[in-house]
Amino acid sequence: MIKKCLFPVAGYGTRFLPATKSMPKEMLPVVNKPLVQYGVEEALAAGLNEICLVTGRGKRAIHDFFDTSYELEHQIAGTDKEQYLSSIKNVIAQAKFATTRQSEIKGLGDAILTGELLVGNEPFGVILADDLCVADDQGVMAQLVEIYRRTKCSVIAIQEVDDADISKFGVVDGTEDEPGLYTVTDMVEKPESADAPSNLAIIGRYVLTPYIFEILRHTPPGKNSEVQLTDALLTMARTSKVLAWKFKGQRFDCGSVDGYVEATNYVYENIYLKNKNP
Ligand code: UTP
Repeated sequence: MIKKCLFPVAGYGTRFLPATKSMPKEMLPVVNKPLVQYGVEEALAAGLNEICLVTGRGKRAIHDFFDTSYELEHQIAGTDKEQYLSSIKNVIAQAKFATTRQSEIKGLGDAILTGELLVGNEPFGVILADDLCVADDQGVMAQLVEIYRRTKCSVIAIQEVDDADISKFGVVDGTEDEPGLYTVTDMVEKPESADAPSNLAIIGRYVLTPYIFEILRHTPPGKNSEVQLTDALLTMARTSKVLAWKFKGQRFDCGSVDGYVEATNYVYENIYLKNKNP
């Protein structure tokens, strides 16, 4: 059983400056909910209710967001404004939160290794909250958890991307074992399109076995002098097995301004207006 979901939320979000100068990127709202809430809701929908946050300096708003706001709740108690807090109160009621801090921003791989303290020796999900995923039926994390249950292998979410965009992603090569499910044979972090092994790009959803921590401990800094999760996953693919799942749904890169605006328009038209759900 997978119970834990790790959220690396320590990054500086430089592509969103100046908004992120004193506010965490993960607190940017898409319509009326911050990105991190969408991520935690996706984890809960997959049955992962132990939320492990790897935070850093300047991320206090995330801690406060997942806590009770006594004064605010008292102020609006008994009014029709109470409904606006119902979704976050549901999240707080269902999830347990634990946090640790990444002392230096040394890359996603380092952030995941920092989370070992919270995760321990068990398989776990990873959600990068700035990748907003929406799916009609089963959420993307739930899709990965289902594959893990069948295979007991680490599994990463991938999507096909255009050649022009490939250099923004980690890219996998692999053999397709069943429709949409690949055994990974190679991986490259942010390749030039000529060097990309395929057009299958890694997005911010993973289920990992704890073996990843052992590998990360011995993974030297790679691209941009950061410890790259992709490098560690390649070692894992070569020494055991890593699967890649072409997920069903849509993903928006909310770490970039264009993707964020696209997500906002999509969520407003397709979710917010339809559900009228605050
Ligand atoms: P990104 O590279 O997209 O986030 O990392 P960033 O560094 O905050 O953004 P830019 O590029 O400066 O605009 C993906 C995720 O990994 C986390 C980030 O918080 C983000 O959720 N991360 C990244 C860490 O927690 N620690 C790191 O050292 C690096």
